[in-house]
Amino acid sequence: MLRTHTCNDLRVKDVDKNVVLCGWVHSIRLHGRLCFIDLRDRYGMTQVTANVDDIPEFENLKKEFVIKVSGIVRKKPEANKKLDTGEIEVYASSLEILNTSETLPLDLENYTNVTDETRLRYRYLDLRRPVMKRNIQNRHNATQAAREFLDSENFLEIETPLLVRSTPEGARDYIVPSRVNHGRAYSLPQSPQIYKQILMVAGFDRYYQIARCLRDEDLRADRQPEFTQIDVEMSFVEQEDIFRIGEGLMKNIFQSIGVELKVPFKRFPYDEAMLKYGSDKPDIRFELFLHDISDHVKNSDFSVFTNAIQDGGIVKALCVEYEFARKEIDELSEAAKIFKAKGLIALKVVEDNEKLRLEGSAAKYLSSEIQMNIIRALNAKPMNTILIVADSFKVANDALGNVRKEIGKKLVLYDEKEFAFCWVYDFPLYEWNPEELRWDAAHHIFTMPKYEHLDYLESDPGKVRALCYDIVLNGIELGSGSIRINRRDIQERVMAVIGLTMEDVERKFGFMLEAFKYGAPPHGGFAVGLDRMVALMNGTNDIREVIAFPKNKQGENPMDGCPSPIDENALKELGLRLSKG
Ligand code: AMO
Repeated sequence: MLRTHTCNDLRVKDVDKNVVLCGWVHSIRLHGRLCFIDLRDRYGMTQVTANVDDIPEFENLKKEFVIKVSGIVRKKPEANKKLDTGEIEVYASSLEILNTSETLPLDLENYTNVTDETRLRYRYLDLRRPVMKRNIQNRHNATQAAREFLDSENFLEIETPLLVRSTPEGARDYIVPSRVNHGRAYSLPQSPQIYKQILMVAGFDRYYQIARCLRDEDLRADRQPEFTQIDVEMSFVEQEDIFRIGEGLMKNIFQSIGVELKVPFKRFPYDEAMLKYGSDKPDIRFELFLHDISDHVKNSDFSVFTNAIQDGGIVKALCVEYEFARKEIDELSEAAKIFKAKGLIALKVVEDNEKLRLEGSAAKYLSSEIQMNIIRALNAKPMNTILIVADSFKVANDALGNVRKEIGKKLVLYDEKEFAFCWVYDFPLYEWNPEELRWDAAHHIFTMPKYEHLDYLESDPGKVRALCYDIVLNGIELGSGSIRINRRDIQERVMAVIGLTMEDVERKFGFMLEAFKYGAPPHGGFAVGLDRMVALMNGTNDIREVIAFPKNKQGENPMDGCPSPIDENALKELGLRLSKG
């Protein structure tokens, strides 16, 4: 090794030792003839002090030069509390410049003016910052903890291919044309879904993989075109067994950042999550619940309510122990409108002669009996505000669910640092597609219906619930999974409802169905988004902060310039021509 210690090793106990450190010049200060350098490596920083009369090369140093310093450890007269090594310094006896550096295009210390594009263009410099080092280190720790736990539970880590046939996750595939088979192409896997199920047919019983997944979809803060899942599949299990493994996995991983999670996690059937939180990704850090007041207002004179109900929709309400100003209500209305609500109705609870009533522009359409029914249903108190959205099931829940989240943030109803996990289960198997007037699979087509709902498959598909579940953290979907269909007769019936024939499926997934002819065991599993999980562990929602080389919002990597034009000859070999659309 070129060094005896890292830049975070030395402490007072090392005083008087002769040491050699290597690293980057983080900062330089000259006081008279004394030069002070903060020397940085992956592990931390150590102050190096030198007398430039003794070692004149110190005067030539610039930020981010790579140097090797020999010297003796001394106790500092005054400790620098900001550094772990702050009680000591290395007094230099020699200096070797291992490499120079041009002036950086971004200042590692003052980060306020750096654009996202510059950060990604010079990612290797951005990654030099201690906070990025911590993020990547935490990601490594989380992955290690996952491996350790799954190994202890007898899971085998098995790699599945990256050049595959199309997978069933529902986004667009990235396509890789074949050079030796013109006119044919591979897909890059959106997940290892089919392969992990086939591994169950192969009898591996317990599989996992820290799997790269590729999906050509529009990007957001929590979506990248390539991302990583902790992907798990198990044979001879029920939903409860999978919950137990998922919880153990999360518990082990969060221990890596010193957080002790309480298991089992709370569990919500889909219907309860939608009713109380207006979301299938409930943020359970705060107990502000939505109520369905449709029954209480269906006979009112308020057409906003009655029309919504007549059109098959609902009226949902939220009661907040807070008196909002007009401007605040306007802001909350905007939060509702993002999710297509036409408006947000606000009513104040007031007390007159010991009797409660509602005040607000909608109140005049509500008889005092209906007002009292609403007040009772919500257990509302004087000076509370009741917020209401009347619309379709989806819009009313999405909109008021979002208002709930905004209120939680605004009124600081939760501790930002808390990690509140839950499972949501019993999702509908199908979703009605009003544009195409047909049923769509709500998850992928290999999801097992609840056994007791099999009878409704043909007669009432909307009633069928699936043995599928999401794992949710602080209102964000971290992962999902299901018990899979392992019997051909059920598979055929499930697909017939969405208008797929066995031939359609045979064309796409025939190889899987063929494998299933030969004794497919009952099985199920889940996948957790590693990037999302580590981002939340690091206190951010932006998964780019925990991915070493992410893409920008246009799916480009500004550092290497991909996607890039392809050499004509390479295209010719593939039998391809690229046009600009
Ligand atoms: P699903 O498609 O729900 O399930 O994905 C599981 C988890 O992967 C993460 N995720 C993403 N993370 C970053 N960028 C993306 N573009 C992205 N897309 C998904 C999310 C999500 O919850 N094969 C099934 C799992 C199973 O049934 O076992 C699957 O992939 O955190």
